[in-house]
Amino acid sequence: MTDGRVILAQHIASQDDAHRPYGGVVPEIAARAHVERLTPLIAATLADAGLTLADMDAIAATAGPGLIGGVMVGLVSAKALAMASDKPLIAINHLEGHALSPRLADATLAFPYLLLLASGGHCQLLRVDGVGRYRRLATTIDDALGEAFDKTAKILGLGYPGGPAVERLAATGDPKAVKLPRPLLGSPEPHFSFAGLKSAVLRAKQAGAHADADIAAAFQQAAVDCVLDRTARGIAAAHGPDQPPITALVVAGGVAANRAIRAALESLAAAHGLRFVAPPLALCTDNAAMIAWAGLEHLALGGREAVADGLDAVARPRWPLDPEAEPARGAGVKA
Ligand code: KG4
Ligand code: ZN
Repeated sequence: MTDGRVILAQHIASQDDAHRPYGGVVPEIAARAHVERLTPLIAATLADAGLTLADMDAIAATAGPGLIGGVMVGLVSAKALAMASDKPLIAINHLEGHALSPRLADATLAFPYLLLLASGGHCQLLRVDGVGRYRRLATTIDDALGEAFDKTAKILGLGYPGGPAVERLAATGDPKAVKLPRPLLGSPEPHFSFAGLKSAVLRAKQAGAHADADIAAAFQQAAVDCVLDRTARGIAAAHGPDQPPITALVVAGGVAANRAIRAALESLAAAHGLRFVAPPLALCTDNAAMIAWAGLEHLALGGREAVADGLDAVARPRWPLDPEAEPARGAGVKA
């Protein structure tokens, strides 16, 4: 890290093993695992950093959006620590953690930038004008991109979590061997759609005529094509007469770990004369450092006074980054 941005300590208590037998996250198991693991995790992280609670400037914690059991456990624990140590609590939107994580990785990344936020629950294009200033230009009208990777993995029997497994298998397949649709490609509508692609993957598998590696490769190529087309549209939409031009194309969220998607976006950015910034893989998938960093960004804006009301924060299952964004058409719309 540059510019004094140093991660002193970070631990991740992965729950993947607990959820793997079920092929996806089971809310009750997730909430229970948070209760069991969080306190020792915080103690271990502080010990690793050689610090105590008294050394903190503030405590940042995720207040949503997400599975409410885990969010509540985390937020209540943070409130208890904040009260016990008389530190301000900064309630952070999980998506904001992803949105600002590229600035943790790259101190030279300035606002405004265009962000592709692609995770297990979201697929959005956001114009990021500053801390707390997000304008949603596009979202998915059905499935999130990570969800499409996870479902493809399930269809191909690759286990959970699916993204990395699909990427590995795709590397050994021929993307042209299976014809798959590219939903909304070339559409004037700004949004993403992946449900039709997922259904086509299921049909291709059921047809029994294709190697799994070819299906994985064809799926990943279709996903890349959709992401490129929609992001190119987003770059055009992010430019407006009354606003400062974006300086960079940025990708964040778990799917940003995908090398094919990163490479495609890097070329797209270059073609538009934009910098391309993607956090290191460890900062792409969910992690605590990005939430701490978002807390620091808020703290830097207003100091302790500006953030001191976190004790009133409530856990929110839904929490859009841009509350003014028009709802996208379609059922099962993600905030
Ligand atoms: O941001 P994240 O860690 O958690 C959420 O907030 O959802 O994202 C997890 C998602 C999962 O759907 C996972 O399959 C996907 O990111 N993912 C990937 C890769 N690594 C993780 N998708 C494609 N390729 C990858 N290498
Ligand atoms: Zn996430």
